[in-house]
Parts: sequence; C-alpha cells; structure tokens
Amino acid sequence: MKQILAAALLSIAWVLPTPAGAQGGDLPPVTVYKSPWCGCCGGWVEHMRASGFAVTVHDLEDLAPVKASAGVSDDLMSCHTALLAGYTIEGHVPASDVIRLLDSGRAARGLSVPGMVAGTPGMGEGDDPYQVILFTDAGGREVFANH
Ligand code: CU
Ligand code: CU
Repeated sequence: MKQILAAALLSIAWVLPTPAGAQGGDLPPVTVYKSPWCGCCGGWVEHMRASGFAVTVHDLEDLAPVKASAGVSDDLMSCHTALLAGYTIEGHVPASDVIRLLDSGRAARGLSVPGMVAGTPGMGEGDDPYQVILFTDAGGREVFANH
C-alpha cells in the first residue's frame, strides 16, 4: 500500500510543471561590460541568459578601467568582463563552469578564457580545445576546466 501511494505521488510530481524561474532561481545577477561593437559578447550574454542568469549589460567604449578594477591582467584578457557574486568572469567562459565555481565557493578572483576561441559559448562554430583559467589577485593561475 505504501508503495502504491509513493508511486502515485511520484506520478503526480512528474506531471506538475516546474515552477517558472526554478531553474537557476538562486543564481546571482550578472553585470557584463562590453564594447558596443562586439557581436560575440552578445552571444555570450544570450548563453548566460539561456542558462538561467539574469544579465545586465553595460556598453563601454573603453573597457580598460573595468578590467583593471576587476583584476584582469594582460594574460587573461578577452573581449568582455562580467561581475557576479564577487567573482570576475572574463571572456567566453561556459555557464556550467561559472555555476561550478559558484557551487565550490572557491577563494579566487574569477575565471577567464583568454582571447577569443572559436567554439566557446557565443563565439560560434569551432572545435579548438580551450582551457578555463581560475585566477587569483596574487597571480595564481590554475586550469579550472579543459574543453
Ligand atoms: Cu568575444
Ligand atoms: Cu565578448
């Protein structure tokens, strides 16, 4: 009898729709700084939104001051810079890696995919291998993900 009840409850849960916004409901808001002429940056913003993040975009002609204050040094630089939950996300970092960083609570300045690699989220087709770098303000660099 208990089993039948459990099965009945399970089947009810199965047909109930997922509440709107439940996916990523506890994801922190994202602020993106990008140049007004960058198409691939917009592609990354769409990738983050599709992954459940609420994204605010600021177009700036000069991103250097933002990158400096976000702790992005020359070796980490890409096109856009995003800030969320105290972390810096530089360039075309997959949302799955951002979420893994948030879940880990790692003490770090943030993540970067330096440069502009084809096949990264927002960059269009490509199968070049690339790495996501975890970086610290003290100059620490660690491979956070291989894609
Ligand atoms: Cu880009
Ligand atoms: Cu970009």
